[in-house]
Amino acid sequence: MQFFYFLFLLYNVVMDNKFPKGFLWGVAVSSYQTEGNNFNSDWWEWEQKGKTKDKSGIACDYWNKYKEDHDLVQELGCNIFRLSLEWSRIEPEEGKFSEEAIKHYRDILQDLKNRNIKTQVTFWWWTSPIWFQDKYGFHKKSSISVFARYIEKSVKELGDLIDMFQVLNEPMVPLGQGYLTGLFPPGKKNPFYFWQALKNIAKAYVESYKIIHSIKPDAIVGMTHLYNWYDSGKSNILGKMIYGVSKWFQVIAFSRRIKNHQDFFGLNYYRLGKINLRHWKSEKINFFIEENENNIMGWIAYPEGIYEAIKEAYQDYKMPIFITENGFPFDIGLDDYPRVLFIKEHLRYVKKAIDEGANIIGYNCWSLLDNYEWLYGFAPRFGLVEIDYKTLERKPRKSFYEYKKIIQNNGL
Ligand code: BGC
Repeated sequence: MQFFYFLFLLYNVVMDNKFPKGFLWGVAVSSYQTEGNNFNSDWWEWEQKGKTKDKSGIACDYWNKYKEDHDLVQELGCNIFRLSLEWSRIEPEEGKFSEEAIKHYRDILQDLKNRNIKTQVTFWWWTSPIWFQDKYGFHKKSSISVFARYIEKSVKELGDLIDMFQVLNEPMVPLGQGYLTGLFPPGKKNPFYFWQALKNIAKAYVESYKIIHSIKPDAIVGMTHLYNWYDSGKSNILGKMIYGVSKWFQVIAFSRRIKNHQDFFGLNYYRLGKINLRHWKSEKINFFIEENENNIMGWIAYPEGIYEAIKEAYQDYKMPIFITENGFPFDIGLDDYPRVLFIKEHLRYVKKAIDEGANIIGYNCWSLLDNYEWLYGFAPRFGLVEIDYKTLERKPRKSFYEYKKIIQNNGL
């Protein structure tokens, strides 16, 4: 009897760490940050104007080395891979689609399919063709149909190889930076344009959602939302205000415009949103510590925040959630133990949310590779795999092997 009781306990301990059967384990990369040589992109032009710390150049050369990188995804044991399409490659001139680029994306997607890896494809990850930015821009209403045409063409050509569709990645980031701070293209500081752009890109999203479903009725379509956690002492008025404004900006402003047009909720979680009020920081910091020398972006890791974000999103939107990005810029060579801790701690909280009833269908580490981090250039290192930017050699880090174990075990 005691023996069976022991087995029962053991079963519980083992099962307790397991994620649901069929859980999707992934890693993510984005086209502009890894492919290299995206000459027709507005961000490329932005770099030439000296607006970024580094120029992306050949980046990781994923465009040519994708098979090598898919070997890594396969070695990890991922059953899904998140990547994106570069609009400026597919439509380098207005209305003229590049058969060559489309064929190349087909090869990339087919290569993943051959390895039995599901494809999660984002269609707009912050960059647009130069012609689009010159003539349109999302602040103009005419941008909607132009964007929809790109979606329609891409889905017709590539949709059969796509398992999960993400029309947009975190649109509020480039909208804020492109129309309020002026740090991203188109470099405007105009709240009216910001507002127009928000409305138009949301309409373009809804239009795209419909187009994708009309071409592929059973498609799973959504987008990703940045959901950092800003709960820094809701008890005082200022805290409540910051929490409310950040929630509105990150999630509500967009979500309310696309109601009933998401088949899942893509949630990107990174950190505790930093508010430059010293005393708030100290309350929430745990073992990762703020702004240490391994964290050149000055971020605050806060694993519990992923749990809070999931709980809130699940309660508000009541749909399956995919953790589409989670990672941290540790620059510490191959033995990246803090990243291992980071991943495990976050997954522990994801599991807690699942145990409490949230429907989480998958998780992506950001990122498979070190890559080009927008304004910051190449210095931040987010990869499970280190890139030597001189030789482009890929070197898996400790976190790569630890994540592999987690995937093998379907849990921690
Ligand atoms: C973006 C990525 C970026 C990452 C780290 C995410 O919000 O989707 O493009 O590299 O944050 O900053």
